[in-house]
Amino acid sequence: MGQCKPLWIIVGGRMRLGKVLAEDLARDHDLVLTSSTSWEGEAWASVHRRWTWKAQDPGVADRMSEDLGCLGRPLAGAVLVAGGFADQPLGSWTPEDLAATWTLDLSFPMLAAQAIAGSLEEGSCMQFLLDTAIHRPWLRRLPYSVAKAGLGALVPGLARALAPKVRVVGHALGTLLPSEGSDPGVLASATLLGRIGDPADLARAVRFAAESPFLTGEILTLDGGQSRV
Ligand SMILES: NC(=O)c1ccc[n+]([C@@H]2O[C@H](COP(=O)([O-])OP(=O)(O)OC[C@H]3O[C@@H](n4cnc5c(N)ncnc54)[C@H](OP(=O)(O)O)[C@@H]3O)[C@@H](O)[C@H]2O)c1
Repeated sequence: MGQCKPLWIIVGGRMRLGKVLAEDLARDHDLVLTSSTSWEGEAWASVHRRWTWKAQDPGVADRMSEDLGCLGRPLAGAVLVAGGFADQPLGSWTPEDLAATWTLDLSFPMLAAQAIAGSLEEGSCMQFLLDTAIHRPWLRRLPYSVAKAGLGALVPGLARALAPKVRVVGHALGTLLPSEGSDPGVLASATLLGRIGDPADLARAVRFAAESPFLTGEILTLDGGQSRV
């Protein structure tokens, strides 16, 4: 019987950055991917499990525990990708809109982290995708920036809670995949390196964190120097 590849979960591994990361990791990992919508009819041949975890589902924490309980193998890594990027300038805030941002950008990754922690094997690494906005908040996206800063505080706290068995690392990302309507040239000119990032930059950093057994509780900033301009 062939040896199993390490099994990782990518929460939000179906779209955009999560998908590119999944495609990179699939070369040498078995993967569990989650999405907020059903996977029915979608071809993703090499994936070990595909689960539907939706941030706004009131039963999502139970769903997470149930799915993980049926996994049958420990996880060797986890990357929590899912999040939003809501445009919410000062003056537009309502309790409902703010609660929606906390649900997707804060509660959901925290609940996923809590559920996944018990399934991670000794020596594994849990990684969070944050934003360089934790250093310099986006003015039109202050609630998003605040939620990511909250996750930034979670990283060292969770590292303490899960040590020494599991390491925890965050990635404060500059623009790697621009959102619709944004100008890549303008974004590039706001960095020291004169370019926006590439999803391959993230894949490299995720692999680096996973393979660095003395690294925990830290946030790596991958923004081409944007926060230093
Ligand atoms: N793109 C960038 O350049 C950039 C820069 C800085 C930080 N980041 C961070 O990197 C992460 C990925 O960014 P992205 O641009 O690829 O993502 P995105 O377009 O913002 O997609 C968000 C991810 O969250 C999942 N998601 C959306 N709504 C959800 C819900 N209601 N419940 C559960 N999951 C949900 C999506 O998957 P499904 O639709 O399949 O559920 C998708 O995988 C985010 O956390 C983002 O803040 C990205």
